[in-house]
Amino acid sequence: MSEANILTEIDEMQQKALQVIAAVDDEAALQTWRTAHLGRSAPVMQVFTNLSKVDKELRPQVGQRANQVKQTLEAAFAERSEAIKQASLQRALTQERLDVTLPGRRPVHGRLHPTIQILREMFAIFAEMGFQVFLAPDVETDDNNFGLLNIPPYHPARDMWDTFHTSTPGVVLRTHTSPGQIHSMRANAPDPVRVVLPGMCYRYEQTSVRSDMQFQQVEVVAVGQHITFADMKGTLEGFARRMFGDNVQIRLRPSYFPFTEPSGEMDVECFLCGGKGCVICKGSGWLEIMGCGMVHPTVLRNGGYDPEKFSGFAAGIGPGRVAMLRYHIEDIRYFWANDVRFLEQF
Ligand code: DAH
Repeated sequence: MSEANILTEIDEMQQKALQVIAAVDDEAALQTWRTAHLGRSAPVMQVFTNLSKVDKELRPQVGQRANQVKQTLEAAFAERSEAIKQASLQRALTQERLDVTLPGRRPVHGRLHPTIQILREMFAIFAEMGFQVFLAPDVETDDNNFGLLNIPPYHPARDMWDTFHTSTPGVVLRTHTSPGQIHSMRANAPDPVRVVLPGMCYRYEQTSVRSDMQFQQVEVVAVGQHITFADMKGTLEGFARRMFGDNVQIRLRPSYFPFTEPSGEMDVECFLCGGKGCVICKGSGWLEIMGCGMVHPTVLRNGGYDPEKFSGFAAGIGPGRVAMLRYHIEDIRYFWANDVRFLEQF
């Protein structure tokens, strides 16, 4: 190739590229232009690639010229790019209008979980009756969860609590908050105890609308001298009336728990069927909200009290059940399903 020819060709490359870019007016077209005229297979770039094939004497001149063209094209690209940006900004300013009179967007704010709201209400009701909050661990020894509560190994009553065992023998996830009875008594003996003990409980069982594998429970414990069954009934009924209103139907019926004697269960009229019987109340018309009873002498002794001198009552209340009654929730599993459509209703 002669000197004149190749240099003219390079000039033409520049001319053509500049001609095309003059008509480019958006970002996409600009990128296409860049690939075509400055990309690896662009004509001017090919000049560099094939420079070794150019006559030796011509090479410096051709290289220099190609470099100039490349720089010119790069400058043209930068200039065009800036112009396009400015134009689109200008368009946005003139075409897009901001209506400052529109009301603002409300920020979404979190709220307390319905069982936490119920728990707090329960604490307030019991606080007025002199009960303090006491905490005990979620992971328990088999002994605290069962043995010291008068449920020795192989006792048939263990079937009442399907248990999650840990890989450490003798260590379980608490199946109820009742082991807190032992903790709170041992922390206070021989002084009187009057505590509510909230916490998560875990059971290895089939879930249903009425029961889940994890749920909150609140243990109520009162130990002292001259505490009677009437104190228990008055306290628990007082709680239920404060929680559900004076007109709600409540019943206390006999039951069995190894750690209380006598034992009872308190039911509240089923909210769904109004007492007629449905899936939630298993056709009975009543929903159980707690187990209760007078603390068994063996448990008092394990807690550090002389059962000849001390007595007490205990109850295990299900705040999930309480929340179901209060808010008419038809499936207890909603509580831990983490569905905001459910949670944001409270
Ligand atoms: N811990 C029992 C349960 O989860 C409930 C219970 C019954 C607690 C009687 C008590 C009680 O304190 O006295 O099934």
